[in-house]
Amino acid sequence: MRHYGLIGRKLGHSFSAKFFTAKFQAEQIDADYRLFEIEEIAELPELIRREELSGFNVTIPYKEQIIEYLDELTDKAREVGAVNCVSVVDGRTIGDNTDTTGIEASLEWLDTDADTKALILGSGGASKAVRYVLRKYDIKHTVVSRDTSRGDITYEQLTPEIIAEHKLIINTTPVGMFPNSDEAPTIPYDALSEQHRLFDLIYNPATTEFISRGKERKAQTIGGMLMLQTQAIASWHIWKKFM
Ligand SMILES: NC(=O)c1ccc[n+]([C@@H]2O[C@H](COP(=O)([O-])OP(=O)(O)OC[C@H]3O[C@@H](n4cnc5c(N)ncnc54)[C@H](OP(=O)(O)O)[C@@H]3O)[C@@H](O)[C@H]2O)c1
Repeated sequence: MRHYGLIGRKLGHSFSAKFFTAKFQAEQIDADYRLFEIEEIAELPELIRREELSGFNVTIPYKEQIIEYLDELTDKAREVGAVNCVSVVDGRTIGDNTDTTGIEASLEWLDTDADTKALILGSGGASKAVRYVLRKYDIKHTVVSRDTSRGDITYEQLTPEIIAEHKLIINTTPVGMFPNSDEAPTIPYDALSEQHRLFDLIYNPATTEFISRGKERKAQTIGGMLMLQTQAIASWHIWKKFM
């Protein structure tokens, strides 16, 4: 039997476990997918050996920290600077990034034009994957961070004019995630219009407060579920090559 899984610090219920368990059954592949909570990324090499993993996904907070523990990176993972999908081939770990595939699908769903300017809220692993995709699409973007050492501007510097100028706004922060579903990133929502497109990477809840405030002002919106599904399918295609 082959073993796959998800590695993170706190993993409640998991979409990926259900997705891959159903996929292995449907394809009649003798494999399982389990959740592995680790306190520190240094536990990874021993976990891979003990559980005889053939592949795994990576989530908060390890997508960037994992890089130094891997034998190889794909060009894309190196360029993004974050890994969410690892294959173990002949004992060597190869890091890749499939979040980018999910981000591309979501931007295509929103029908994003190349001449749109984007604001990215947050500067973590998912923000890096978003920046990679926006560079690929030649979309100009500004990173909003709580600290200017990590982004271009802070939330305090965000004016209604800046919101009006940036028609694509992407939330890559965990603000608004269950159980804090009544929270939303601090931006001047009154400046949103029906020309705006809002993408929230959060998938729980399906409609976040950020998305609700966009809908109230008739913006086009998408939550994180399409991205979640698409990155899982992309991980499946990577692992299938080595089965
Ligand atoms: N739909 C999907 O498939 C998918 C895939 C990946 C991630 N996600 C979601 O995306 C979110 C971020 O994931 P990640 O892996 O990038 O996490 P991460 O590496 O921890 O980065 C999150 C970033 O958000 C900002 N942030 C954190 N706490 C904040 C707060 N209280 N207020 C304002 N900003 C805050 C920080 O940026 P600054 O320090 O610069 O402010 C931080 O770097 C999570 O909600 C995750 O579930 C969804």
